[in-house]
Amino acid sequence: MRTDVIRLGRLSGERTVKMMQFLSSMRADRWIADADVLVDIAHVLMLEKQKIINRDTAKQLLTALLELHDEGIPDEAFDDSFEDVHAGIEALLVEAVGMDNGGRLHIGRSRNDEVATCIRIKLRDELLKQMAALLKVREVLVAIAEQNIETAMPGFTHLQHAQPTTLAHHMLAYEQAFSRDFDRLREAYARVNQSPLGAAAFASTGYPINREFTARFLGFDGLVTNTMDAVATRDFALETLADLAILMANVSRICEDLIIWSTSFVHFVTLDDAFCSTSSIMPQKKNPDTAEIMRAKTGSVLGAYTGALLTVKGLPMSYNRDLQELTPNIWRGMRDAKESLRLLIDMLSSATFDTARMREEAGKGFSTATELADSLVQAYDIPFRTAHNIVGRAVQKGYLNLETLDTAAKELGVEISFTEKGLSQAKINEVLDVNYSIALRKAPGGPAPLAVKIALEENKKQLDTDSVLIDERLAKLSKAKDDLIAEARRLVT
Ligand code: ARG
Repeated sequence: MRTDVIRLGRLSGERTVKMMQFLSSMRADRWIADADVLVDIAHVLMLEKQKIINRDTAKQLLTALLELHDEGIPDEAFDDSFEDVHAGIEALLVEAVGMDNGGRLHIGRSRNDEVATCIRIKLRDELLKQMAALLKVREVLVAIAEQNIETAMPGFTHLQHAQPTTLAHHMLAYEQAFSRDFDRLREAYARVNQSPLGAAAFASTGYPINREFTARFLGFDGLVTNTMDAVATRDFALETLADLAILMANVSRICEDLIIWSTSFVHFVTLDDAFCSTSSIMPQKKNPDTAEIMRAKTGSVLGAYTGALLTVKGLPMSYNRDLQELTPNIWRGMRDAKESLRLLIDMLSSATFDTARMREEAGKGFSTATELADSLVQAYDIPFRTAHNIVGRAVQKGYLNLETLDTAAKELGVEISFTEKGLSQAKINEVLDVNYSIALRKAPGGPAPLAVKIALEENKKQLDTDSVLIDERLAKLSKAKDDLIAEARRLVT
């Protein structure tokens, strides 16, 4: 077993392996280990620049840290006899460069600001991956929409045929939902990417540290200024997880549509076999399991959020060890959402839509009745509610034609005979036509091909803007990292 250099002075008493495993964050710390090396490098550079440690100590520490960066962190650092990876890496460094140098690494900082910094570094990377995956989902939806501007299908409310729409309109509805999910993550990123480093335990330090220096070299956009807040808060993670839970609720809805659409009585879509399973007893079965698992992952991600929120609820200021239990929720939520999005991209882009079936259903269930009511309002200057009742009563009779409309009006006590007023069956049929009804709905955001084409242009512009944003953020992070490593290499040679 390795020595935990942190415990040496203050504590004695044996801990069993079980105890140590219970207390250690090592398993989840795999997520932040690489970030920890970067944080160490930035901290050492700052200590040297501020003349808090001398050049030689800095050189020795940086040489060992660069080796961890270049070669990877050896497994010993993850031994769960250490409380966490910070203790593990510090112990390795002390071993590598001796206590006189290695023992100076932790001047002016605490694991409290260290871990908060590492989490933010890893989380911002994960956020950008998540945003890139979301962008891809939106691109796939836009591509399906572009090919189906004229594809009529039934639109549903209460899962009943409601009014005809198009597959393009339906896909763009999801695109908009995912676009808002993207915005939420974009905004969360701005609050994630602030540096808590330099807060130390919570009250900062008496050493003349330079917080801006480490923040810049670690690619942060600013500081979490109040040092107590810096180590105590995990609200940046909570808002990310809440955003992911909302995003997954949207994922679950599109999955639900795909599941319903792939039933044999709806048959609007055929999912690629790769995303389906069969039954161990029923040889004919093709089940949309991937969509089902994704629908269920929504619950896991929401669980990660509630787990995290309940960890901080009622915690006193400032750092409490409870916070360690919050962190795995971040990675679990991130992982489930990311894997779901990546599968959704492929499941959607490989799906085959049965557009003939969609068209066949589009006009069913009197789905164009609203248009007939509207046309009666316009042609005969009757109130909409009157027209709505007349058409509704005609529907009750099972047919929409001149005869049922006239009878309906009479039954409802409306003094009007459509036959006498020149309404023809041909006119009724024209109004009840699915394409006619869709084409009329050309208000902004409506299903008419004209409106959908305009929406598509807007959506594509937004996709470009969002893609540039991701690239800019990635470039900024990668430049900061290159600068950090270059500065460390410059100092050691
Ligand atoms: N493993 C700890 C965590 O994840 C790091 C901070 C430990 N701080 C402490 N005071 N014991 O929160």
